[in-house]
Amino acid sequence: MVCLGNICRSPLAQGILESKSSKLIVDSAGTANYHTGKSPDFRSVNIAKKNNIDINNQIARQFSSLDFEKFDKIYAMDNDNYSKIISLAKNQSEINKVELILNEISPKEFQSVPDPYYGGKDGFQNIYDLLNSACDKIIEKYEIR
Ligand code: 4NP
Repeated sequence: MVCLGNICRSPLAQGILESKSSKLIVDSAGTANYHTGKSPDFRSVNIAKKNNIDINNQIARQFSSLDFEKFDKIYAMDNDNYSKIISLAKNQSEINKVELILNEISPKEFQSVPDPYYGGKDGFQNIYDLLNSACDKIIEKYEIR
């Protein structure tokens, strides 16, 4: 799960997907390094907690080209980060691993999970709902319940 800072959207996406299946190894990262080493934003922690998901122990890190080798699937939270991830890919098979997460709900619409960092609390409820629906689709698609 990859966003910009790895403190708002992608930690929440990681926590939500982990909560739906114990058969997956899920991780998250940010394309930027501004928040490396930090805990998730308290607003993501709170919306997760409200839904019985604990993301407090996550620590922000920057996405690395080695992630293409470690993971089968890489979900970008928005179009900017999708482009950034793709720019780090070495070949077509690495590019093929990358998908915009909301395309799992609305295929080929290329919608972005809105960046909630500068927004209010409702922004976090909205991204929780979007990511929860997307993660349900992922579980269904790969039959990994
Ligand atoms: P995220 O949100 O990419 O969902 O973690 C952001 C976090 C920090 C910043 C931007 C977006 N920032 O500009 O510091």
